Amino acid sequence: MNPSDLRELLQKHPKRKLVSAPTPIDHCSRLSETYGARIQIKRDDLTGLATGGNKTRQLEYVLGAHDLSDVDVVLSSAFSQSNWCRQLAAAAAKLGVRSHFVLAKGLKNLESQGNLLINKLIGATVEIVDGTDEELLPLLIERAEQYEAKGVKAKVISAFSDEVQALAALGYVEAAIEIVESLGDEIPDWIYVAGADVTPAGLVLGMNLMGLHTKVVTVSPIRYSFRGEDACTKIANDAAGLLGVNVRFAPGDFLFTYDYVGDGYGIPSTGGLNAMRTLANTEGILLDPVYTGKAMHALLDHLTTGVLANGDKVVFLHTGGIPGLFAYADETAAYLNMTA
Ligand SMILES: Cc1ncc(COP(=O)(O)O)c(C=O)c1O
Repeated sequence: MNPSDLRELLQKHPKRKLVSAPTPIDHCSRLSETYGARIQIKRDDLTGLATGGNKTRQLEYVLGAHDLSDVDVVLSSAFSQSNWCRQLAAAAAKLGVRSHFVLAKGLKNLESQGNLLINKLIGATVEIVDGTDEELLPLLIERAEQYEAKGVKAKVISAFSDEVQALAALGYVEAAIEIVESLGDEIPDWIYVAGADVTPAGLVLGMNLMGLHTKVVTVSPIRYSFRGEDACTKIANDAAGLLGVNVRFAPGDFLFTYDYVGDGYGIPSTGGLNAMRTLANTEGILLDPVYTGKAMHALLDHLTTGVLANGDKVVFLHTGGIPGLFAYADETAAYLNMTA
C-alpha cells in the first residue's frame, strides 16, 4: 500500500487534531560524520502542547474516539513523572476539560519539577500514592464515581486499556507515513526509538503496511513482563483490526533491546547521560535520561560496534520526555561534574 492509501485508511478514524504535523526531520551532519552513517532525527519532541512528545500523537486518536465535549474531568494514572499524564492534561486543557491523576510515587516525586510541575501549572488535580502505575485503575474508577456522585461528569482514560492502546498505536502508523512522505526515496534502513509497546507497535504496523523493510529497533527503558514484544504484538494486531487490514504479527516481528535499561526504569545510566551530552554538543538537541537518552545510547553503541553498516540510513525517532531532564537535574549535574 502506498503512503496516501494508508493515510486514506487512517482518515476513516476520528482524530482530535493536537500535533503540529508533520514534525520536522533534522539531518544531523556532525553526528553523521562522526559515526559514518546518515543519521536523521524525527522530532516528535516537537509535537506541540506543553513540551510535546509521543503521547500527543497517540492522544489524537484516543481523544478522537473518546469525545470529551460533555466531560468535566478526565482521570488517568501512571508514575509521578509521567509524560502521558502531562500530555493528557495539556490536551484536556485545550478542550476545556480538567484532569485528575492518581500517580504512583515511583523513584521521582518532585512536585516542583518536570512533569509534576507542569501538571500543577495546567491545573490538574494530582494524588500521589504507593503502588505501581498499572495497579491504580480501581482507585481511578472510585474517584470517577465520587465525581459523578457530585454531578461532575467524569471519564477514565487508562493508558493500560487494550482499546486505548490500539487507538494510540494509530498515531504511530501516521508517524510512519510522515517519515516516508518526508524522506521520499531516502527510505531509512533503520528506525531507532525509545519504546515500551504502543509506539513501536504503530511504527512497525505502518512500515509493514507500506511494504517497507526498515528495521525498527525498540530500545526499552523498562524490564516488565507485561510490556515489550508480547504486548507490542497484541497492540499491533488490535490496531490492524481497527484499520481492517489482514496482517498478523508475532513477537519475533519486533526487534527489542533491553541492554540499555541500566540499573532500572527511571534510573539514569552513564551511557544514557553520555549520549545526551553527545547529542547536545554536536547537534544542540536535548534528550531525557529515562527514555530517549538510553535509546540514543543504543544507537551510538550499535554504530560503534558494527550492528549498523557504514553509510546506513537511520532515523532516530525522538519521543520527547524533555521535562525528565529537569526532574533528573541533580543526577545530570553530578554526571557533568564528574566527567568534566
Ligand atoms: C519520552 C517517552 N518515550 C517513549 C515512551 C514509550 O512509549 P510507548 O509506551 O508508547 O512505547 C514513553 C512512554 O511513557 C515516553 O514518555
